[in-house]
Amino acid sequence: MATTTQVQPGSALTERIDRIEISATLAVVNEADKLRLSGIDLVDFGAGEPHFSTPQHIKDAAIAAINGNFTKYTPVAGTAELRDAIVHRHAVDFGSDYRRQEVIASTGGKHALFNAIQVLVDHGDEVIFPVPYWVSFKDIVCYAGGNCVCIETSEKKDFALTAEMIERAITPRTKVIILNSPCNPSGAVMDPDDMKEIVRMAASRGIWVISDECYVYLNFTGKRFSAGSLSEYRDRLVIIGSLSKTYAMTGWRLGYALAPAQIVSAMQKLQSQSTSNATSIVQKAAVAALTGPQNCVEDMRQEYIRLRDQVVKGLNSISGLHCIRPEGAFYAYPNVSAFFGRKNLDSAGQVAERLLQEAHVVTVPGEGFGTREHIRVSYATSPAELERGLERMRSFFAAL
Ligand SMILES: Cc1ncc(COP(=O)(O)O)c(C=O)c1O
Repeated sequence: MATTTQVQPGSALTERIDRIEISATLAVVNEADKLRLSGIDLVDFGAGEPHFSTPQHIKDAAIAAINGNFTKYTPVAGTAELRDAIVHRHAVDFGSDYRRQEVIASTGGKHALFNAIQVLVDHGDEVIFPVPYWVSFKDIVCYAGGNCVCIETSEKKDFALTAEMIERAITPRTKVIILNSPCNPSGAVMDPDDMKEIVRMAASRGIWVISDECYVYLNFTGKRFSAGSLSEYRDRLVIIGSLSKTYAMTGWRLGYALAPAQIVSAMQKLQSQSTSNATSIVQKAAVAALTGPQNCVEDMRQEYIRLRDQVVKGLNSISGLHCIRPEGAFYAYPNVSAFFGRKNLDSAGQVAERLLQEAHVVTVPGEGFGTREHIRVSYATSPAELERGLERMRSFFAAL
């Protein structure tokens, strides 16, 4: 007769799962949820998602898909209709010329990024990316067995990244460079010329560039730019895109990668052994988003610009806080180091924790993004809620 044995804690887990941590942003959400459940009224600047509802025509397309019984498996990389819609949207907005075989739809941009890194990064390969970085870059690379090479940037220079800075970090083991513009968490936007130079330099050395462009439509400079428009370097480029932020669709989970057909085909192989296809109904909604009216995207961008101005003004009016003006995404990244040494505070993590426990404002500490002097403030919320949170922060910091 079969017997079951008690698994000892820790003994069942693989070495690779122990290499990674739960996303710092999700950890904050969990802690905030606990306080909320105990009845505390929080102001939430932690969430990395739009406060807008998904536009109605996108929701309607999903409802029609359900009612039309579009509820079966689809091809792994997505329906031909969706792949063509992604390629078409990118061509219209950025002047690129990808083909259907060069795109794969996945369950969110994070999934597309995960797949891309798993197919490109081997044990011991080095992956370069700048600090501050989006939390998941580090853990996804570690999970693949790669070594992260983080490049410091300067807040005084608006966290700018240049080809020379990257060139200094390149070794014979460098396999991939990850770019993220607009950046989560700093909101920094790369100068298109710097990006072109990095992509050119990388291609000339046979190094891959993964350009995470999940916030590409939330660019406030008026010079929206995708590395995918650099067709001469396309054989070393992977573009990661997402509908999450662009169309306020975070929960729908639809992202994509644009890449050489050989890479797409390897990602397809991996995806075929895990999630198979993105949800059929969501694929129909995504087609409606990408081919339907685009004024919703511009309307949301304009609102984020107004909110950005409000939050930067508010944060900089708090004595001791310093916040650069982000040029994209929906995050402000104020420096809180002036408060270190006061009331036993000496890290961003402690500032964020005390802000949560004492002022009931949720922010994300910079440590998860590779810097210990900042907190991330997501301003994707209403102007009134933003003001309410700023007021709480003002009182909190004034009392330190
Ligand atoms: C820089 C960056 N890349 C990718 C993603 C993934 O977004 P999603 O998986 O919702 O498409 C996020 C989400 O916060 C992000 O901030």
